[in-house]
Amino acid sequence: MKLEGRVAWVTGGGSGLGLAICRRFAEEGAKVAVNDVRAEAAEEAAVSLPGEGHIALVGDISDSAAVAEMGATIATAGGRLDVLVNNAGVDRTPGDGMDQMMTTGSLTPHMSDAGWTRMLEIHLNGAFFCAREAVKMMLNQDGGAIVNMSSIAGLAGMGPIHYATAKGGLLGFTRSLAREVGKNNIRVNAICPGAIDTPMTAAVPEPMMKGMIAATPLQRMGTPEEIAAAACFLASDDGAFLTGQWISPNGGIFIG
Ligand SMILES: NC(=O)c1ccc[n+]([C@@H]2O[C@H](COP(=O)([O-])OP(=O)(O)OC[C@H]3O[C@@H](n4cnc5c(N)ncnc54)[C@H](O)[C@@H]3O)[C@@H](O)[C@H]2O)c1
Repeated sequence: MKLEGRVAWVTGGGSGLGLAICRRFAEEGAKVAVNDVRAEAAEEAAVSLPGEGHIALVGDISDSAAVAEMGATIATAGGRLDVLVNNAGVDRTPGDGMDQMMTTGSLTPHMSDAGWTRMLEIHLNGAFFCAREAVKMMLNQDGGAIVNMSSIAGLAGMGPIHYATAKGGLLGFTRSLAREVGKNNIRVNAICPGAIDTPMTAAVPEPMMKGMIAATPLQRMGTPEEIAAAACFLASDDGAFLTGQWISPNGGIFIG
């Protein structure tokens, strides 16, 4: 029970990696605040977890006021916050030109301002708004751990430009916040998964995914549980001397 008695907030916890992280954290003894913008997904996830004291936090992480409210709810319900996982994300946005890319082979000329901005709002504004709430609570206690879900897209430029930019930005965010709050025993790290089998990747065209698997030395996609194991490592005392770092469970598709 690596997270016994701890309170964890997982964004995008209603599906895929976030759901697997919520499950693993609950199995390790944490009380989990499950955020998702899809109300039903958040609520179903929260009641499905083993143990007691889990709550659903419905809201869009790119909405500053909604995130402040989530922070207040956690402070009231849990009394403290030990772990934040900034996991919620999307790989497509309306107007991002991905459809045109499939036919023309180029993306940047087809991307609208809205398509570009929405991607950064969700991943970067969202992570910042949640971390701001988390740090406020963690500064009033004996520290905490923040885990940001980046991607091999952020490390190696794999993936569309808006997504890779957002995921790369999360690495700068991780490093800067780690330097700022290390003295307060708040650790900040990132995970850069390769291709993992979730609803997000189920929507990727089959030939593209086959190409990714062929380029992966372990010759398969990862499982959400494999990413949850990395999150548990970084969130628990197992990762006690790690801060400002990224780890990349990716089957070897990016070796750096
Ligand atoms: N699956 C992969 O191969 C892979 C690889 C690298 C990184 N990632 C990252 O991991 C994270 C989880 O991906 P996944 O594959 O589990 O995707 P998913 O689509 O299965 O789950 C994402 C969840 O986030 C929620 N969400 C989206 N926007 C939100 C918002 N604004 N506010 C609150 N919740 C929101 C969705 O409703 C959904 O439940 C994402 O950040 C993704 O970019 C995934």
